[in-house]
Amino acid sequence: MQVLKIENLSHVFGPLKVLEDVYLDLEDNTITAIIGPNGSGKSTLFNLISGTLRPQGGNILFNGINIAGFKPYVIARRGVSRTFQDPQPLCGMTVLENVKTASLLTGTASKESLLRILVQCSLENEADTDAAGLSFAKLRFLELARVMAMKPKLLLVDEPFSGLNTSEIERMSNLLLRMRDEFGTSTLISGHLVGHLAKVAKEFVALHRGKVIAKGSFDEVRNNPAVIETYLGESNVEN
Ligand SMILES: Nc1ncnc2c1ncn2[C@@H]1O[C@H](COP(=O)(O)OP(=O)(O)O)[C@@H](O)[C@H]1O
Ligand SMILES: [Mg+2]
Repeated sequence: MQVLKIENLSHVFGPLKVLEDVYLDLEDNTITAIIGPNGSGKSTLFNLISGTLRPQGGNILFNGINIAGFKPYVIARRGVSRTFQDPQPLCGMTVLENVKTASLLTGTASKESLLRILVQCSLENEADTDAAGLSFAKLRFLELARVMAMKPKLLLVDEPFSGLNTSEIERMSNLLLRMRDEFGTSTLISGHLVGHLAKVAKEFVALHRGKVIAKGSFDEVRNNPAVIETYLGESNVEN
């Protein structure tokens, strides 16, 4: 069963074609990594799926229903949650209030269950702290705590490992695996740290200049000639 099926999705910003004819299938209960150099369109794809941006063409089928163009809160209520590449806490509200606010979008949660989420994200000592005062790593975990409170069927996590150290990446990875196992969450995770991504993701998708250039297992994607050329071409311009 496919939780997400994207067909023929395209997006332009002025003259810039940011996504071009993207097709993507996400299996139920699976973590899929989406990789690609900066500017390849990963965040735009997340913005389109979550409704932050309105698609200009194509279909986004979530559990068989085309959600393309739905408002962000409608998409969230249907079971699609996302985190932002640059954390976006509700400043002026405490960490616990941030997580509670998120939980209200999809239902209600007891204070105990919200505090449990804070413990899992190592945020229990900051429960009553204004989210504006958190360190960057703590803000990353607050993003995750908020989506955990929503128990999503589909989760989009935009570069969640960026700016974290190895043990924080491992903690974050374990929480993503736990969401898959406890809530049946399917996740699309973007990033550059492919070694860490390979520990959680069963499938890989490579994006380059708005086009999907490879799909498959980690080994299939990293050995794909187009992927090798994209990465070596950009890092070894002189060679
Ligand atoms: N709101 C916007 N207006 C104009 N151009 C944008 C906007 N958002 C992203 N872009 C451009 O779209 C391209 C893809 O960006 P993005 O989706 O953020 O890529 P990635 O997440 O893979 O780094 C980039 O060239 C970026 O500069
Ligand atoms: Mg991005």
